Amino acid sequence: MEADPPALALFGIKLGLYGSALLATGLALHASLNIVARADYSRALCTATVASAIALLFAIFRLGLANVQLGGGSALFDPATLSWTWPALGPSLTATAIGAVALTIGWWLRWKIAAGIGAVALAASFGLTGHSQALESAGLAPLAATFHVLIAAFWIVGPLTLWPARSLDDTTLAARVTRFSHLAVVTVPILFLLGLWLALLLAGGWTPLLTSLYGQLLLAKLGAASFALALGAYNKTIITTRLRATPEAGRRALKLTLGLDAVLFLIALCAIAAATSLTGPPAP
Ligand code: HEM
Repeated sequence: MEADPPALALFGIKLGLYGSALLATGLALHASLNIVARADYSRALCTATVASAIALLFAIFRLGLANVQLGGGSALFDPATLSWTWPALGPSLTATAIGAVALTIGWWLRWKIAAGIGAVALAASFGLTGHSQALESAGLAPLAATFHVLIAAFWIVGPLTLWPARSLDDTTLAARVTRFSHLAVVTVPILFLLGLWLALLLAGGWTPLLTSLYGQLLLAKLGAASFALALGAYNKTIITTRLRATPEAGRRALKLTLGLDAVLFLIALCAIAAATSLTGPPAP
């Protein structure tokens, strides 16, 4: 598959956008859902606020690239071209800006509700643009994409907040792993169901899902996410107990599984970035 330079640029921008927006969303959720305790709340939200500002930059780059793709290099800031690209990307960029402002308020005022609003606004920025919006009758697809990304952010930030750093005592670590696992058991299956539904809807059925490049990239993502799910089950059933019984051994095992998780999540993000920039849903 030959990828033209703008498509490769969009791939890079999408990866940057996913990395920063999901980090900001996930950390805000972990703070507002008490996975990160009050003592670490400010640091988590400071990082989330910086990440959301970076996400806003990538959203602006994406708009700029759309202008250039439509009107050439000189159209980067051209208002006439913007009147074409803003309807498709403006609402998403606005939601990202609202998310960044809400996270800043959540950080400055140590206000969990503001952090939660920030997380939802950032996730909504994915439902307000993209393939789910381009459907003839979008219906619930944009909402499904929003919740899908919200849960994905909660999940993929796990390796960061659960990392058994020396500064984290055994009791706090075990409490974080337990609380995260309890919420993940309920939410992650919903992420898979929403993802599978969106995949069948956008690909246009099982055959195009199995035979198109777009569909195969989504299946590669499903594969990586399924391995991460298995590791999550191992963390919940084996490692949580080991952390309480033999903290040193538990920490070593946790570092291994979280490291593997991070690699699998990166593969999932690369697959979805490729599916939404280098290719797209097959024509019906
Ligand atoms: C680690 C797990 C996962 C992560 C981090 C993740 C992340 C994401 C992100 C960030 C998007 C938004 C893409 C965009 O609008 O540019 C997305 C969309 C999507 N995801 Fe996931 N996801 C995960 C698991 C899954 C699974 C298991 C499936 C099931 C096949 C799935 C199917 C989809 C589909 C169909 C879309 C819409 C793609 C489009 O707009 O063309 N995802 N995902």
